[in-house]
Amino acid sequence: MTLLMRKSITLRTSLLFTLLAAVVFAFMGLVIRASVSHHFSEQDSSALEGKLELIRHILLTNESGDAERLRRQLGDALVGHHDLSVRIRHSGGPELFSSGHASIPDAVLQKTTVFPAKGALPLLTWSSEDATYRAVAVRVLTPNPPQSWEISIAVDTRHHAEFLTVFERELLVIGAGGLLLMAVLGWLATRRGLQPVQHMAHVAEGISAQRLQDRLPATDVPVELQPLARAFNEMLDRLEDSLRRLSDFSSDLAHELRTPINNLMTQTQVSLAKPRSAEEYREVMYSNLEEFERLARMIADMLFLAKADNGLMIPHQEPVNLRQEIEAVFEFYDALAAEKMVALSLQGNAIVTGDPLMLRRAISNLVSNAVRHSLPDTTVTVRLITEQEMVRLVVENTGDSITRDQLDRVFDRFYRADASRRRSDEGAGLGLAITRSIVRAHCGQITVASNEGKTRFQVTLPITPAPLEATGVRE
Ligand SMILES: Nc1ncnc2c1ncn2[C@@H]1O[C@H](COP(=O)(O)OP(=O)(O)OP(=O)(O)O)[C@@H](O)[C@H]1O
Ligand SMILES: [Mg+2]
Repeated sequence: MTLLMRKSITLRTSLLFTLLAAVVFAFMGLVIRASVSHHFSEQDSSALEGKLELIRHILLTNESGDAERLRRQLGDALVGHHDLSVRIRHSGGPELFSSGHASIPDAVLQKTTVFPAKGALPLLTWSSEDATYRAVAVRVLTPNPPQSWEISIAVDTRHHAEFLTVFERELLVIGAGGLLLMAVLGWLATRRGLQPVQHMAHVAEGISAQRLQDRLPATDVPVELQPLARAFNEMLDRLEDSLRRLSDFSSDLAHELRTPINNLMTQTQVSLAKPRSAEEYREVMYSNLEEFERLARMIADMLFLAKADNGLMIPHQEPVNLRQEIEAVFEFYDALAAEKMVALSLQGNAIVTGDPLMLRRAISNLVSNAVRHSLPDTTVTVRLITEQEMVRLVVENTGDSITRDQLDRVFDRFYRADASRRRSDEGAGLGLAITRSIVRAHCGQITVASNEGKTRFQVTLPITPAPLEATGVRE
């Protein structure tokens, strides 16, 4: 049952609904019963006071002091009031009159209040074996002859009690019926309210890797479900994008491997076509070695990225003087820069905590790209800016712009903005993907902006990275 309750919102909501209705009904029942009972008590109280007034009047007008006449008059006044019982006695003395089937106990007569009283008379109650009585007990003074009387009038409340019992039973039956109705209606209402969720589930069921373009109707669903539908659609957008990149990646990978392997095959077939000299074989093998090296580099790069994807790339943590690293990279690219007539300039200083080899690799990728894509007679500028807890490393060059569409793809694996350079000797298109993995593993960020021939890559690194766990980079 509890398992079912945990699983079914419909059941849980309708039970809660019923429980709340039960509390409200019980409260209303108690209030109604209390007010009916209060009404009866007020009714009894005013009937008793009316009779008391009548008896007092008879006592006041009986100036002769004739006890027998008084009893007769009192008896006449009470004719027809079967539910009333009266007991009258001289204060502390003998009893003058009593009537009715209730025997009013002495204890009641001893609790007299002087009449007429200022406020409402206190109602006294007692029960005999088969009935409960309400009574008033008063002391009345008559001037002529001067006498003090103790009068008690009681009313049998049996018929009120009987009415209340029947009334309670009816309330219970109505309440139980109402509760049952509420439970059924609550269940129906919740089921109906949850119908859009079922519709959403139905749409979601039809979505698969091949049909990722379907979306939930985010505007047709109730407002409460709109954030869920939107979040779900956004998740599908991200999944679709990741899947597209993944399938691009696999086809790119196949192409990237095919070219060098074809080259190797062709060269080997050609050289095997006829007998050749040792010198010729050596030349072919050198050329093959170059292709093998290219392949090995690409595979090593891909392994590096796969490790980053799986959170296995954990950088060392040691102080790294970024200026020194950049100077070393500049030295490496000095010849290439001179050949392309590009100047290299370095500004600023910064020290961060990180992995020197990885950071040098990231810087090297950025500088190599900048030099490669620069126009002659321009300068590649690297700037280091230390802020409060961050270091900004900016690599700027003037040359080919990267278009808006290409900007968010340049970090993708095998992506090269210029299609004509694809699969040329220039590079596999893994450099920026690796750079981004390294930056992320250092809890940093990398962004790119390109405008009117000026391309600027900006890396932001925390001076001391957060306690490093394996920082995975997932697409
Ligand atoms: N400074 C830049 N100016 C213009 N385009 C750039 C610049 N840096 C990168 N790009 C574009 O981004 C693409 C991806 O760069 P990335 O470094 O990932 O690959 P690559 O340089 O082509 O190959 P690899 O780095 O693997 O040898 C490049 O092919 C180039 O088109
Ligand atoms: Mg590159």
